[in-house]
This record gives sequence, structure tokens and C-alpha cells, in this order.
Amino acid sequence: MKIIITGSNGYLGQHLTDFLSKRNFDLIALSRGENKNIITPNLNYFQIDLTNKESIKEIITRIKPDIIIHNAAMSKPDVCDKNKEECLLQNVTTTEYLLDAASTIGCYFIYVSTDFIFGENGPHSEEEKPNPLNFYGQSKLMSENLVKKSGLSYNIMRPVFIYGPANQDIKPTFLHWVKNNLEQGKRIKVVNDQRRTPTYVYDICQGLLAMIEKRITGDFHLAGKDILSPYQMAVKVANILHLDASLIEPVTSETFPEPVVRAKHSGLKIEKARNILGYEPISFEEGVNATFSK
Ligand SMILES: NC(=O)c1ccc[n+]([C@@H]2O[C@H](COP(=O)([O-])OP(=O)(O)OC[C@H]3O[C@@H](n4cnc5c(N)ncnc54)[C@H](OP(=O)(O)O)[C@@H]3O)[C@@H](O)[C@H]2O)c1
Repeated sequence: MKIIITGSNGYLGQHLTDFLSKRNFDLIALSRGENKNIITPNLNYFQIDLTNKESIKEIITRIKPDIIIHNAAMSKPDVCDKNKEECLLQNVTTTEYLLDAASTIGCYFIYVSTDFIFGENGPHSEEEKPNPLNFYGQSKLMSENLVKKSGLSYNIMRPVFIYGPANQDIKPTFLHWVKNNLEQGKRIKVVNDQRRTPTYVYDICQGLLAMIEKRITGDFHLAGKDILSPYQMAVKVANILHLDASLIEPVTSETFPEPVVRAKHSGLKIEKARNILGYEPISFEEGVNATFSK
């Protein structure tokens, strides 16, 4: 089975590429820069800017993938807010071009979206009405709608606050930031009035594998099973790694004024993925242990 994954140089992209390349797939990885994925040897990699319609058409019609996993994005909400036109180009136009090309060959389309398409009162189920609070969320929702209108068989996959292993070639996550500061004896302020369902990156990979195998079209939330504030996550990291949790000060979101609005109570419900895909994520504690044992 031929699978194209976009954004293979990013955090999720590198882990997913590594994960899928160890299974029996013919994997083709696309990203904008040079291949940064040194953990996956012999990767079939193409450097491509997804804002170039002709390049997309050429590569999709030449490779004729069975599945496209569209994971590439301008993924930082603040950057999207400051650069709205560029955000539309990177997050929406690229999806449009990929869908156009995919339609000519009729392949299965998996779109990596986000909990940011929802507003307050999480955790949210797949049935809830979207209400993005910032431009990044709006752009991802616009793309979701394009996927749904495309006529292709599709999955929309929504993760939340992804964490997991990092190395010199994969950017560190929030958990690494906590660990690094505490190891140096530095005090840190961490927000305690926001709730998320942090998602271990290899749980996402397992969930995506189930989507690939089952091909049950529709939306699926692939999140963690624990609802935690960033402060609670930081304290758990400290306790598990035997670091000094008293260096972590709980603060409210107002301590870090941000240009973009973020939901205080976000997070995603995972019952649908559990029931239909057999998705069963590990606990946050298990995720922290797995993150730092790799
Ligand atoms: N991280 C999270 O906590 C989180 C939570 C919810 C949803 N998501 C979603 O999950 C996906 C992956 O997130 P991430 O954090 O792994 O993102 P990331 O680290 O920022 O990686 C995104 C990748 O997309 C590639 N890309 C962007 N524009 C491109 C273009 N025009 N052409 C080709 N490649 C392009 C970049 O490639 P180069 O490096 O080669 O430039 C980059 O490596 C995104 O769709 C994001 O919206 C992430």
C-alpha cells in the first residue's frame, strides 16, 4: 500500500514517518525543507513546497498513492494570527491543491486537524459544533470542510497537545522544557487554568494505523485519556523524574498575555475512536515514562 505523508519534517511527521516505515507500507514522505528525518533510514523523501499546485499534481499523479496523510501545516497559532494570508495559503490552499490532485486518482485522504477548531467547554466529542477561537483554528476548520466536500473517502483526525520523545533532530516538547529547567534548578511559571487532554505521539501513530487498516470514513479524536492543566503535567514530570516540583509555580493564563485566544477548557473525548478503531491510549504517567526512556 502506497502512503504519502506531508510535513514529514515536523514533530508528528517525523514520528509518524518512523512508525509507518517500520510497517509493511510503501511510504513516500514530503516536506518543504531538506529531509531532517535521520531516524528513518532509506526514507523515500521528496522536497516539495505544497503551495506549488503543479508540483503537487505532478507527484500525486506520478506516485498514485492509496492514501494521503496531510499533516503539514503552519502549526503555531500566534504565527497564524500575525500572518493571516500566509496561514490561509499554508493551511487551506495546500489542502485544496492536495484534494484536487487526490480526486484525479481517487485515493483515501486523512487530514490531521486540531482541537483548536472547538471553543470552550471541552472535552469535545466529534458531534459538537465547531467554534474556533483563533485564526489557526479557523484555518484548520476551513480545511476540514474542504475535505468533507471533496467527495473522497476521508478521515479527519484531531489530536491535542502532542508530546513524546525528542532528540537533536526532533524539536523538544513542553515536557522537555520542564525537565531541562528543573534539572538546572530554574524556577518556572506554568499555567494552571487551562485544561487539555495531552496526547502521546505514538498513540496517534497507533490510531492512524487503525484508520489506515479499517478505512471507516469520518472524524476521529485521537487524544490522551487524562484531563490535565499544563501545571499538573509539569508536576507529574517533576515527580516521575525525581526533580524538585516546588520550583514550579502555578499561574493563570493572564500571566502570559497572548495575541491569540486559547480555550481554557479544551481537550477531546475519545469514546468514538475507542469503540470504532479500538484506540486505547496510555496514561499521562505512562507517556512521561515512555518519553524519557527512549
Ligand atoms: N503539535 C501539537 O500539539 C498539535 C496539536 C493539534 C494538532 N496538531 C496538528 O498536527 C500537525 C503536525 O503538527 P506538528 O506540531 O508536528 O507541526 P510542525 O512540527 O510545525 O511541522 C509541520 C511541518 O509541515 C511542513 N510544512 C509546512 N508548510 C509546508 C509547505 N508549504 N510545504 C511542505 N511542507 C510544509 C514543515 O516542513 P519543513 O520543516 O520541511 O519546512 C513542518 O516540518 C499539524 O497539522 C497541526 O495542525 C498539532
